Amino acid sequence: MNTQTALVTGASEGLGKSFAFELAGRGFHLVLVALPKTGLPELARYIRINFNVKVDIFETDLTASNSCTSIFKELANRSIYPGILINNAGLGNWSWFADKSISFYKTQIDLNITSTVLLSRLFLEQPCRPEKLYLLNVGSLGGQFIVPKKQVYGATKSFISYFTRSLQLELAGSGVQVSLLSPGGIHTKPELLVMNHSLKGISAASILEPDQVAREAIDGLFKGKREIVPGVLNRLMVFLDHILPAMVKTLIIRKKLRVILKQSNP
Ligand SMILES: NC(=O)c1ccc[n+]([C@@H]2O[C@H](COP(=O)([O-])OP(=O)(O)OC[C@H]3O[C@@H](n4cnc5c(N)ncnc54)[C@H](OP(=O)(O)O)[C@@H]3O)[C@@H](O)[C@H]2O)c1
Repeated sequence: MNTQTALVTGASEGLGKSFAFELAGRGFHLVLVALPKTGLPELARYIRINFNVKVDIFETDLTASNSCTSIFKELANRSIYPGILINNAGLGNWSWFADKSISFYKTQIDLNITSTVLLSRLFLEQPCRPEKLYLLNVGSLGGQFIVPKKQVYGATKSFISYFTRSLQLELAGSGVQVSLLSPGGIHTKPELLVMNHSLKGISAASILEPDQVAREAIDGLFKGKREIVPGVLNRLMVFLDHILPAMVKTLIIRKKLRVILKQSNP
């Protein structure tokens, strides 16, 4: 059995839960973080029984001040020093800028950006850290393309991309593997299932199941990949994005925006 411990944020559902199963299946002990009352104790019990690994949980709001520091303080008290950090917790949305409240955007930025930066820093400065560390930051293809109705979300994921690439440069040769996960659409929760079902063509075909994304991500992390884009179609879209002239991309986005506006005001 593997004796290393992996810390996964946003582990109660969606991609985070798939990460928890994927890592437990590979024999890693787990530290799972999610908001209170989201079934984390039950999930931990299920994983302990079925995978025979240790599971510690933190039911905490990662946007609350000091929550990230408290997690690592408590882990040190329990002599747990994770060798893997999966910064997965994130808050998405698909709405016009004016339609979400100030407090929503504050929470989105605090969760997607601030908690990722703070947890990464705390993870790297652990006093008794394992010799080799693995850090996986969950970004999004939405951080690479301009997608209508994802203005703040996409910007937070662009931040994650920049931050992760900078860390890769800074930590090269230090025994820390830093990878960026850039998924396209994932079938994680009912709202997304409804939205994904309205997609057509290549967009519909590119949607993946969370278990596949988690498996490709962990494979890529351990293989030392700098960026992991799960799914062949998503990789094709990234390739096209690199070769298409900016003017063509702007025309495609404008066309998409017109379709969305027509659907909103038929
Ligand atoms: N789904 C997609 O299509 C897609 C595509 C590209 C990238 N991503 C990224 O993948 C990651 C996971 O997405 P997902 O679709 O699996 O999301 P999800 O189903 O909404 O899960 C998000 C997780 O984060 C937790 N969380 C939310 N707010 C929190 C807070 N303040 N403190 C602590 N935990 C909190 C949630 O816990 P609760 O259960 O307690 O709310 C949940 O476990 C995100 O970073 C997302 O941006 C998703």
